[in-house]
Parts: sequence; C-alpha cells; structure tokens
Amino acid sequence: MNSIILYYMKNSGQNISEYKNLIIYCFSGTGNALKASEWLIEKAKEYGINTVLYSIDRFEKIDKEKQDGKTLIAFCYPTHGFNAAPLMLKFILKFPRGHADILLLNTRGGLKFKKIYFPGLSGIAQLLPMLFLLLKGYSIAGLLPFDMPSNWISFHPGLTDSAVNDIVSRRQKQLYNFADRLFANQRAFSYKVFLYLPLDLAISPVTAGYYFCGRYMFAKSFYASSECNDCRLCENNCPTNSIKIVNNRPFWAYTCESCMRCIGICPNKSIQTAHTFIIPVIYLISLVPFAAGVFNVLKIYIGEGIINGLITVFLNWGFTVALIIIAYRMFSLLLKIKFINKFFEYTSLTRYWRRYLAPGTGVKKFRMFHNKA
Ligand SMILES: Cc1cc2nc3c(=O)[nH]c(=O)nc-3n(C[C@H](O)[C@H](O)[C@H](O)COP(=O)(O)O)c2cc1C
Repeated sequence: MNSIILYYMKNSGQNISEYKNLIIYCFSGTGNALKASEWLIEKAKEYGINTVLYSIDRFEKIDKEKQDGKTLIAFCYPTHGFNAAPLMLKFILKFPRGHADILLLNTRGGLKFKKIYFPGLSGIAQLLPMLFLLLKGYSIAGLLPFDMPSNWISFHPGLTDSAVNDIVSRRQKQLYNFADRLFANQRAFSYKVFLYLPLDLAISPVTAGYYFCGRYMFAKSFYASSECNDCRLCENNCPTNSIKIVNNRPFWAYTCESCMRCIGICPNKSIQTAHTFIIPVIYLISLVPFAAGVFNVLKIYIGEGIINGLITVFLNWGFTVALIIIAYRMFSLLLKIKFINKFFEYTSLTRYWRRYLAPGTGVKKFRMFHNKA
C-alpha cells in the first residue's frame, strides 16, 4: 500500500498494517501458547490481516504456503528448561528458508503470590530460534517473552483460579498492546528480552544440563496410578506421540517433553510424577564424582592424555546413564505390584496438587486446534 495513504489512515485512527498475512505455528502443552496465538489472531483481524493457525503437534513434514503480500510468521511455544520446547526447535530447524518477517513468542512460567507477580526466565528460548531463523534468511520483526501462569506441575501446585485469572487478564492487555505496535510498525521488541539477557546467558549451564540429561529424566518420572481406567486420552492427545499403552497402562517414551498436557487432561487425575523415584535418580547422578573416582583408578592402567581423559568422562556418564536406565526398568516393573503402585501414588506430590490447563482449554480445544494443521 502506498505509504502516504498508510500515513493518513494511521493518523485518522484506523487500524492499518502493511502485513497482509499472519501465519502462526504453535506448540502448546497446556494451552498458554495457544491462548497467546488466539489473542494475536483477534488483533490481526482488527487490522484486516488474513490469519492461519497451525498446530505443530506430531508434525511430519512442513508445507510452506506461498502468500500474496507482506507476511508475518509467528512461532508460539512454551519455554522448557530455559530453552525453546525441543519440538519447536526441531520444527524451526526443518523450516524451509525464506525472507518473511518473524515473531518469536515464548510463553514462560509466571507466578503470583499475594499481590506480587513473578516472571519466568527464557534462557535461550528466543536466542536459539532467532539464530536458526536468521541463518535461514528471515528477519526478526518481534520478540516477546510472555509470562503466563506456570504449568510445571511436577515442581509446584497449580496456581489458584484467582491467580490464574489475574495473570491471564494482565497478559491479554499486554499482548494486545504489543500486537498493535507490531502490526502498525512491523517492529516490536519487549524490553524484557534485553533486561534479562545477562541472567538468561548466565543460566546456560543449567540449560545444557536440562537439554542433554534432565528432560529424559523428567520424561521417565510420569506414571499412571491405579485410578487409571485406560481411557487413552493421554495417548491420543500427546503432542509428541510419546505415550504407548502397555498392558492397559500408559508408558512414557524418552521423546516425551514433559509438556504437562497428559497430566492436565487426565479425567481421573491418575497421572503422577513419581517424586519418590526422582530422588534416588538424583542421588545416582550425584554419584558421578564417585564414578570419576573409580575411573581415575582405571586411568592408571589406560594411561594419561586428552583422549583418555575424554574416554573417562564418557565412561563416567555412561555408567550413570546405565544406572538410571536400570532404575527406570525396575521402577516400571515394581509399578505392576499393587501395593508398590499405591506407595508411589501416595508419595507423589502431584496427587495432592492442583492441575493446570489455561482457562477455556481442554481436550476438545486441543483436538480442534490440531485439526487446523
Ligand atoms: C518441563 C517444563 C519446563 C519449564 N521450564 C521453564 C523455564 O525454563 N522457564 C520458564 O519461565 N518457564 C518454564 N516452564 C513453564 C512453562 O514454560 C509455562 O508455564 C508456559 O506458559 C506453558 O505454556 P503452554 O501451556 O503453551 O505449554 C516450564 C514448564 C515445563 C512443563
């Protein structure tokens, strides 16, 4: 559109944007990123922008459509372990090259105690996708770390309804303002990106630890208690297809991203995090220095040097990972014994904790959303 006409239309108070199309690729475990995507679409419609929302759940191939006119591509996803959720990272890595404008919106875990709001922390949840997309030829038009209610139920009870509603209504206003700036100026960057950058980078050893080790451990911490009635909602709605039914019970594969959807939608609240299993596993990990001691003795026999040093590190971690795999196998077998299953159930904190799904989100919504892809 002619820039003079645009200038006059903007000054006459009309919502006008150079963007003709908004394409959103969304991954959302418990509905926060989905909610943010819907708010973005509401705003885009006020500007007469054509919108499409794609779920990337269980994506196999990416068909990038050709759009007429200026296009904004948005990636909306949760922050997992101070990084973008791995499913979204994989998606972005496979995303075809192009030249459109990009918006990165990562939902984070916000909290509210009494009257105080606490933000989440992005880590490299924006930096890494940004780098991948810049290398693919795109330009970054918007960055928004977005604090929705935290859904990490393995760590803390779900927030109360009033805390959730307070956070959600604040965020809705924030997103509308941000979208106005983005659609009107084709640029909008939240100050939070720059404010938290030193902390986001300082935490990168934890980010690496979670990405290469922690997430597999959490994937294996889920189990179904005796309340499970084999309804298979969890299996059918898992975004990474990581739940397999074995002997009428769900089992979680290492590809599980702990997105919390299954735990949030289970109608019998039968899915739990086995806290009494995680504690011995953390203990095993703390044995790495012990393993290092054992292999230091072995080193005397295999000699010194960088290669041998690397072999030692590899063996230390191999030893620990092997122990964890054996521990998980034993845990799965023990769960079949009724009273042991009950023991894990009653010692799982999630049994006593509130669950979380974004307001207005449920199985139906996830299904409708998935079908749009
Ligand atoms: C496994 C896991 C890891 C998380 N890691 C972080 C994190 O590093 N930083 C953060 O701010 N929030 C973290 N959270 C909270 C979620 O990012 C946050 O609640 C998000 O809004 C969930 O969005 P969704 O409902 O679209 O999945 C984590 C949640 C889970 C389940």
